Amino acid sequence: MNIPEIIEQRVAALLASMTLSEKIGQMSQVNASEGYAPDYLADGLREGRIGSVLNVVDVSIVNELQRIAVEESRLGIPLMVGRDVIHGFKTIMPIPLGQAATWNPAVVKQGARIAALEAATCGVNWTFAPMIDISRDARWGRIAESLGECVLLSSELAVAMVEGFQGDDMAARGSIAACAKHFAGYGAVESGRDYATTNIPETKLRNVYLRPFKAAVDAGVSTLMTSFSDLNGIPATANEFLLRQVLRDEWSYDGFVVSDWDSIRQLQVHGLTENDKESAFEAVSAGVDMEMAGDAFSHHLDSLIEEGRVSIERIDNAVANILRAKFRLGLFEDPYTNPEVLPPIASEDALQTAKQAALESVVMLKNDHAVLPLSAESLQTVALIGPLADAPYQQLGTWIFDGDVELSITPMHAIHSLVGHDLDVRYLRAMENSRSKASDSFDEAVEIAQSSDVTVLFLGEESILSGEAHSRADISLPGDQAELVRRIRETGKPVIAVILAGRPLTLTNIVDHVDAILFAWHPGTMGGPAIADILFGLESPSGKLPATFPRVVGQIPIYYSQKNSGKPASWDTIAHIDEIDTRAPQTSLGMSAFHLDTHFTPLFAFGHGLSYAAFEYHRIWTSSNEIALGDSITISTELTNQSDVAADEVVQLYVRDLVASITRPVKELKGFRRVHLKPGETLTVEFLLHTDDLAFFGRDMRITTEPGEFHAWIGGSSETQLRAEFRIVPNN
Ligand code: BGC
Repeated sequence: MNIPEIIEQRVAALLASMTLSEKIGQMSQVNASEGYAPDYLADGLREGRIGSVLNVVDVSIVNELQRIAVEESRLGIPLMVGRDVIHGFKTIMPIPLGQAATWNPAVVKQGARIAALEAATCGVNWTFAPMIDISRDARWGRIAESLGECVLLSSELAVAMVEGFQGDDMAARGSIAACAKHFAGYGAVESGRDYATTNIPETKLRNVYLRPFKAAVDAGVSTLMTSFSDLNGIPATANEFLLRQVLRDEWSYDGFVVSDWDSIRQLQVHGLTENDKESAFEAVSAGVDMEMAGDAFSHHLDSLIEEGRVSIERIDNAVANILRAKFRLGLFEDPYTNPEVLPPIASEDALQTAKQAALESVVMLKNDHAVLPLSAESLQTVALIGPLADAPYQQLGTWIFDGDVELSITPMHAIHSLVGHDLDVRYLRAMENSRSKASDSFDEAVEIAQSSDVTVLFLGEESILSGEAHSRADISLPGDQAELVRRIRETGKPVIAVILAGRPLTLTNIVDHVDAILFAWHPGTMGGPAIADILFGLESPSGKLPATFPRVVGQIPIYYSQKNSGKPASWDTIAHIDEIDTRAPQTSLGMSAFHLDTHFTPLFAFGHGLSYAAFEYHRIWTSSNEIALGDSITISTELTNQSDVAADEVVQLYVRDLVASITRPVKELKGFRRVHLKPGETLTVEFLLHTDDLAFFGRDMRITTEPGEFHAWIGGSSETQLRAEFRIVPNN
């Protein structure tokens, strides 16, 4: 018998010996954040009324809870111990959106591995990550936790995270179960307001929002979490279409589904149910296996079964899903945690990974006249000004329950240690925090800037401005930051903005007042050294945007893979509000898809990111002009590093399906690769594309590739114009 068969046998044997109350217990997860083992918890464990706990991270308490569950309960079933380990445990990696800007699955996987190893020292065996909600609205605070707007990038990085958390062997020490969340559609909340409603047509749901989840399921993700949001009228936590039809019937998923925090009882608040009992009925019937932090299941499932409204088969199926995950985690063999056998917290490897991830996540948005990198040899004084130059906590970003702020190295400290002996480094915070509206220190800031060779402004958002329930309607730099930029600009000295933030920001009001912008997201523990190395040219920036930067908030949703529409905007079909000739007929205003008061393009496009090197893409070619369905095509490019700087470049392949039975996006990322080029080096990069990679869900909700014409582009951003064409023909 192989391992999966043995596990199925053990699940069946255990299930057969369980009482109904023990089964319902497995389906109940309890918040244990009090920090000790209170009686209700201990009693609940003894009586088999609790299958999982969350938010306990003291290893002696976790071991004690496991001991009670294993040694004092009738069946001795160990606990899943959950925690939000979202981008690191003690050592904090960049926020997930920043990690997505690396376009590097290897570093993302290693970051998740480190997080798992550190969390495992506290007895945590289950993280509520990765969050893989496609996010195309930067107002939504949770975009920080996401992997951005793109289906392929999110899917590949989702897989990397799952592999990092779960390891090659989930039962090995240091591996923890992952949880792909929030199933599904959460990123599409109306106007970016957290928890709000989503309305997503089924083709879009399947072609966009569900795809990263399918990738995570195929990668063996242990668990899935439902979304708080309402999807087309049925909250995700009660959505049978998602949880049964798609997840179980179509994808044959055999992990378990946990609700979000109390999201079962919230079904009543949504207006779907009358009371907790009906909420439990809806959720369990739809396919939720475990309730997080609520008591609808523990209070009502037994009577729902007694009344015959919920079948015992459904309960057995839910419990089997949960037990299967516990067996796969090896908990029955080894429920206890011995931190001694795991690598120490903040190991050399952990800090190095955090630095590498931060380095690769920084996106250089502009660099006029090659003002960057700064040269420690030719400068004498550098001014570091702004609320985020020395903010060890803020640079960690959202969701860092366990993050160790003591480990944080800020840009101010890192710059001092890197160049402090060669340069006069002057620092002024100038604003209490990013939201401050007091400009009393601005005169002093101007004086410092005036008497320095260059000013580096550290701007952005504090961590509290993004994350769950932290949406913003105006996503420009908060407080008086734009005014600070304007004042510093007046000195006439070079100004560089380093922006730390949890989302894409609208930078329109500062972009022309600074010479260079490094967008560093919330870069985590090692953000400072990474930023210092980039500023002073020890490393070239190499991050690329995982989400489009709008010019103004009213452009949202704006993303690279939009549809063409029947009247696409172009430079010669647009008009601007300031240039409208009121005597002319209204039809002279272009009649295309644009806003009168801004451009139709974003401020910075998806995939954009500059380098200290200069990469020239010479050409693009395909292995053939025509391929049959079921075959593959190679699409290649040749690029040269035309500079004397060695650097990484992220080569991106985009494809458009020109004519299809449902309209298709103007561009879709179909491949990407981070490559390193020495000065003067020329490299050929090939992408192998199977016709299945071009499949989509059409009118009949089946996934197919339709024969026809395709365009392909390769380049260093989604704006690349380097194009080839090919055709797919039927394979008869
Ligand atoms: C969030 C989840 C998180 C859970 C547990 C909820 O409010 O939506 O993403 O995993 O809390 O902390």
